[in-house]
Amino acid sequence: MAITSCVCYRCAGTQPQKTALHRTDFRHDHMTPATPYALSPAFEQILARQCGWVEPFSGPVLARLAAGVKKIADIYTGGREPCAAFADPALRASYAAYYLPCNAVKLFPVLRELERCRSVLGRGPRLRVLDLGCGPGTLIAGLLDFCMQHGKKAALELDITAIDRDGGNCSSARELIQAYCAAAPEAPAVTAVHILTGDVHRLAMSAESGFDLIMAGNLVNELSADRHAAISRRIRALLKPDGIVIILDPGTHQSFKNLLQFRQELLGAQEIHLLAPCLQPGSCPLQHCPDAWCHEKLCWSPPGLVRLIDERTGFTKHKGVKFSYLVATRGASPARPCEGDKLWRVVSYVIRNKGEERLYVCNGRERRLLRRLARITSAASADFSVSERGDSVTVTGAEPRNGFFDIGPDAVFRKSSCQALPGTLAAHLNQPC
Ligand SMILES: C[S@@+](CC[C@H](N)C(=O)[O-])C[C@H]1O[C@@H](n2cnc3c(N)ncnc32)[C@H](O)[C@@H]1O
Repeated sequence: MAITSCVCYRCAGTQPQKTALHRTDFRHDHMTPATPYALSPAFEQILARQCGWVEPFSGPVLARLAAGVKKIADIYTGGREPCAAFADPALRASYAAYYLPCNAVKLFPVLRELERCRSVLGRGPRLRVLDLGCGPGTLIAGLLDFCMQHGKKAALELDITAIDRDGGNCSSARELIQAYCAAAPEAPAVTAVHILTGDVHRLAMSAESGFDLIMAGNLVNELSADRHAAISRRIRALLKPDGIVIILDPGTHQSFKNLLQFRQELLGAQEIHLLAPCLQPGSCPLQHCPDAWCHEKLCWSPPGLVRLIDERTGFTKHKGVKFSYLVATRGASPARPCEGDKLWRVVSYVIRNKGEERLYVCNGRERRLLRRLARITSAASADFSVSERGDSVTVTGAEPRNGFFDIGPDAVFRKSSCQALPGTLAAHLNQPC
């Protein structure tokens, strides 16, 4: 089915469209390869429709959505009970227009890295997925969109369970999944959808009905620390052996501290092991750091509606979305070959000073500041300048100096791809690529 409307939801009609958009044609003329992460037009159009943004476009609708977005931000930053953000249908529409796409896209780089090193989406025809605190269906829709964009239809059937304590959100999630499946037949088949209204603490299922993938987006941030142990136990009980759990959180300093506490509970029982962002087991080098915390900033090609709301609110999500995350698996402890010591993750942006560039890397046990002088032209470390927060990189031959490690002419600093990682991350995970 072709979408016959000529409206481009990525630029919201601010750029002329030559042709009608076809559903599968999601690489717009003005979408550059430098911003690889984007929701598909099918997804954007569904969201636009769900939040009342239909032709003819109207300023008052946009003003209402923007006001709602501000209100939601105030609720979260003002420490008010977050339930208030979802009780009002108008605020739910604003969430769908703005926060939903901003959160859904955060799943993409996490799944992409996971897929490169340990396929979770190709492990069998039927993937059982659980979304905790699903909200209006954010991560389920993100997962469907990722699978569609990566041609996973043939390989995959999804059996979806999602839970949220807000009944309105549960209805929105159900509608979104239905609308997505109807509008995007290239997406993997959804063979079952169970949307449960209730508290995640009460989620009771036997381990036999375990899940291949458990996700929780911006939920841990809302859980008080005294509930971490119970939720962690529940996740462990519900995860299949070798299953994967993905936790995404807002990426603020405060939410990171909370996430670390949760991580401690989740990993405490020894049967769950971290896969990302940490590449080595250990206690987080940033746990007591007063001015730094582990987070990503994802550059993306946002929907036009997000841009327009940013214009009205002064928010900046169109420039990038922040998040902290963890990916863990249940199973035997992965082997840790010594080559793993070469593998690091970039945890800052490139800091450019006169005559040099610096950045931080971390492997989960140790954080290091690296420096590369501008006069170093070695191809082996050319990736230094173009590294981004979240990249995994192999580093060898960095010389310790006073307070930093120097990437000299003989050092290697290379962005990792699966092929470039024999014996490192792929071996950690006990899986051939
Ligand atoms: C910030 S929203 C995130 C929604 C969605 N996962 C996302 O990333 O956009 C947090 C959601 O968690 C739900 N929630 C919070 N605590 C919960 C609990 N104890 N049990 C079930 N749902 C909960 C809220 O109702 C809300 O929908």
